[in-house]
Amino acid sequence: MKFVLNGTPVDVAAPPLKRLLDVLREECGLTGTKEGCGEGECGACTVLLDGAPVNSCLIPVCQVEGHDVRTIESMGSPGALSPLQELFLETGGTQCGMCTPGMVLTAHAYVESGGQADPDAIRSYLAGNLCRCTGYQHIVDAVLRAVKARRKKG
Ligand code: FES
Ligand code: FES
Repeated sequence: MKFVLNGTPVDVAAPPLKRLLDVLREECGLTGTKEGCGEGECGACTVLLDGAPVNSCLIPVCQVEGHDVRTIESMGSPGALSPLQELFLETGGTQCGMCTPGMVLTAHAYVESGGQADPDAIRSYLAGNLCRCTGYQHIVDAVLRAVKARRKKG
């Protein structure tokens, strides 16, 4: 299966109907993508497919052939976080390791697609990414700041 993974063309040997989530974790060694519900409800398995957030637990790998897939590993690394990851840290929006990767990827897509500095719109865009234990306000704050920073950059 040929596709572009985090900016690099890959050719992965996997059964066509294997879930993208499992291919990323098992064949590609990218364990930042998490499995929560396994049913398309929680967003823990979010990746960007051609720039848009999708639930990788619902996608057979054959569907990404020829497409662009981005995982949390493409956003930054522990020593070199992306500006959005820095904002998550600064606002306290970084929560647990299960929900945060998907939250960051969805937030990234919101900012990059020209999302507005509107808390309701941000909450609505992030509605597919669930946290079952704390709140969303700090995440919304991080995204608001990211949108404003992007505007300033033009
Ligand atoms: Fe995919 Fe929950 S694990 S949406
Ligand atoms: Fe991650 Fe609640 S699910 S902090």
